[in-house]
Amino acid sequence: MNKTIILEKRPVGKPQLSDFKFTDTELPQIGANEVLLKTSLVSVDPYLRGRMSDAKSYSAPFQLQQPISSGIVAEVMESNNVAYTKGDYVSGLLEWKEFQKSEGKGLLKVDPAAPLSAYLGVLGMTGLTAYLGLTEIGKPKKGETLVVSGAAGAVGSVVGQIGKLLGCRVVGIAGTDEKAEMLKAKYGFDAAINYTTTSNMREAIATACPDGVDIYFDNVGGEITDGVLANINQLARIIICGSISVYNETSVPMGPRVETTLIKNSALMQGFIVSNYAAKFPEAIIQLSSWLQAGKLTYSETIIDGFDQIPQAFIGLFEGQNNGKMIVKI
Ligand SMILES: NC(=O)c1ccc[n+]([C@@H]2O[C@H](COP(=O)([O-])OP(=O)(O)OC[C@H]3O[C@@H](n4cnc5c(N)ncnc54)[C@H](OP(=O)(O)O)[C@@H]3O)[C@@H](O)[C@H]2O)c1
Repeated sequence: MNKTIILEKRPVGKPQLSDFKFTDTELPQIGANEVLLKTSLVSVDPYLRGRMSDAKSYSAPFQLQQPISSGIVAEVMESNNVAYTKGDYVSGLLEWKEFQKSEGKGLLKVDPAAPLSAYLGVLGMTGLTAYLGLTEIGKPKKGETLVVSGAAGAVGSVVGQIGKLLGCRVVGIAGTDEKAEMLKAKYGFDAAINYTTTSNMREAIATACPDGVDIYFDNVGGEITDGVLANINQLARIIICGSISVYNETSVPMGPRVETTLIKNSALMQGFIVSNYAAKFPEAIIQLSSWLQAGKLTYSETIIDGFDQIPQAFIGLFEGQNNGKMIVKI
């Protein structure tokens, strides 16, 4: 049989295991031009939370009682498509199924000699987000101070390292002392703050950033962001990439009004969606790969075993259970 995970209920607040349902379907039979894919690695990502609600957003909501989809690396088991042969590995936006068929549209052949999981992380959507968000909106200059929230995650850990490569002083914010230590020891951040043991984020940022904040790469939003914004410099750039701290809110989150802070500092705050920069993906991949090959960029992964663990791995993102990219290996 062929296990599939469907969206049973739209989560209210933090997602629960009961929001997901496992179903068994027949193994698909492929037709002309189709390939049969076996799922190898599944990316779970915070943005999927948005697609589980029916609010209008930049990508369409998942349909109830239908399979959920995310970034997946899969093996070609059978092929009636000239572009693919049995044994090839591909990545693409695919459904949470053990096996599925595809006509190949949107699939990217990946090199099985490279670590396949990298195509879901540092060489995939999260690496592209880090590189393009930072360079296109943040426009870092040597000697500037960059603050990154969600710094020990898939996007944040790469943002901080790129900031260092481009000559910035980099300060990261994460949820445990171990993660804060790792930011400095593994990724080379200059300073790190554990937000769970910090009662005054505004003061903590002021201490960690004596020259103020020139660039803020925001993955989390909420009160952490309020504290960073209170320390921005003239002409600061604020990249609004994610707001995981408020994704599970059931009412509109309230906070300080930011308008006067932005006016007084002539600062730029801009929302970022990686898919809007698709034309720049090839050059970004070349740069990320070259840093990786030169040993200038590193990454972490939390790999969870088993198809049945996909919903729990997804929920774990909201509990900080990952270091770097959260991936489920089938
Ligand atoms: N706009 C785009 O195109 C785009 C693309 C990719 C990702 N994103 C966004 O970027 C952010 C990071 O994504 P990712 O894939 O790299 O995920 P991730 O950072 O690898 O994983 C999520 C992390 O968020 C932190 N977190 C969870 N709840 C939190 C809370 N209440 N307050 C503060 N931190 C919290 C946890 O780390 P701690 O232990 O440190 O709390 C957790 O490990 C997400 O908001 C995501 O939606 C946006």
